[in-house]
Amino acid sequence: MSPAGRILLHEETLEPSYLPPKLVHREKELALLLKRDREAFQKGLSYHLLLHGGVGSGKTALARRLGSDLERGGRLGQLPVRAVYINCWRRASDRTVMLDLLRSVHVSLPDRGYSLSEMHDVFEQGLRRNPQHLLVLLDEASALVKQETKLVYLLTRSQEVELGSISLVLIAVEDLFPYLDPASRSSFGVTHRLFLAPYDRESLTDILEARATLALRPGSFDRDVLEQIARIAAPNGDARFALELLSGAAHAAEDADSDTLTPEHVRRSKGSLLPTVAESQLESLSTNELGVLLALTRSLKRKGTSVASQKLRATHAALLDELGGSPMSRTTFWRTLKELERDGLVTLDTGPSGESNQVGMDEMPASFLTTLLEERLGQSRGRKA
Ligand SMILES: Nc1ncnc2c1ncn2[C@@H]1O[C@H](COP(=O)(O)OP(=O)(O)OP(=O)(O)O)[C@@H](O)[C@H]1O
Ligand SMILES: [Mg+2]
Repeated sequence: MSPAGRILLHEETLEPSYLPPKLVHREKELALLLKRDREAFQKGLSYHLLLHGGVGSGKTALARRLGSDLERGGRLGQLPVRAVYINCWRRASDRTVMLDLLRSVHVSLPDRGYSLSEMHDVFEQGLRRNPQHLLVLLDEASALVKQETKLVYLLTRSQEVELGSISLVLIAVEDLFPYLDPASRSSFGVTHRLFLAPYDRESLTDILEARATLALRPGSFDRDVLEQIARIAAPNGDARFALELLSGAAHAAEDADSDTLTPEHVRRSKGSLLPTVAESQLESLSTNELGVLLALTRSLKRKGTSVASQKLRATHAALLDELGGSPMSRTTFWRTLKELERDGLVTLDTGPSGESNQVGMDEMPASFLTTLLEERLGQSRGRKA
């Protein structure tokens, strides 16, 4: 048996279904929505919201956190608050969503024989028996809204009912406002629309740190490695991908019987989740590129998430010496790095001190790439000889 849990102490806290107690970098949004919902419910009013943002920008987490915090906050204007979360991805019709809503107020109806507005009446009767404020969270609502939903209109007009308020949150990757019918649009004015911007590298690093602290053994990771993961996920600002990389790296570390997460484990995780470098891609590289890349992977194989470009240039000069090649000018070295960056093989970054450039490679384990490159360089030299 493998020494399970050497690093992953609480793996479940990295699962997509886990709702973290705190959402770093979404505190402002959460506080704002809590305030608006509470004020509305307190007065017996509703507050409807369109929430949108890219994949992994934290929409679902924010909505579920909002629901859970409202529920735990206790009664508002005499009534308790209930949050009902429905993912509409697979139930993209008014009727199926309505059946879920009915279930949430403990009414069951056969799927057939009732019109939508009859079902809505029964839903309100259910609420009347058990008065409460409802926060209805409709996640992945694009398809529902685009097929001209009547449900959204019905739910946003439920105010007359004297049974507590119903607040509706529609969640989607895109802004759904243009797809709403004119009657529903009036419920979603500018203060009823929230866009979650993609996470930047810093934010992703903080999110990774918060989640790693929950999931991993203290001391098994450091911020450098989390920054490396954030660097890989930053182009899409996708926290889910960042967390998958973290989980993959932790597994790779455990598989290797390591007590700590290293940059090589991150590269292994990246390579298996999203293999971008095919061996055939190496064939299209110039000898200059192969040499600079080999100098880089040899340095990274030892340690670190990146190398200062000055240092890399020295390593490369030594390598050329070893291979019997002629020295490379600073300009050519720099142009070669830029070419490798354009090919998506290396990352170029201004280092912490500002003056030196840091060169990284996240695509596959540096040890493995080193072997591939040594083979290729050997072959091309063989051909020349
Ligand atoms: N601010 C945050 N702090 C901690 N974890 C976060 C944060 N934002 C997102 N996450 C985590 O990142 C993952 C993706 O977030 P979430 O599912 O909310 O994204 P989404 O915007 O709903 O994406 P999709 O459009 O694919 O449904 C989840 O595991 C979530 O817990
Ligand atoms: Mg989601």
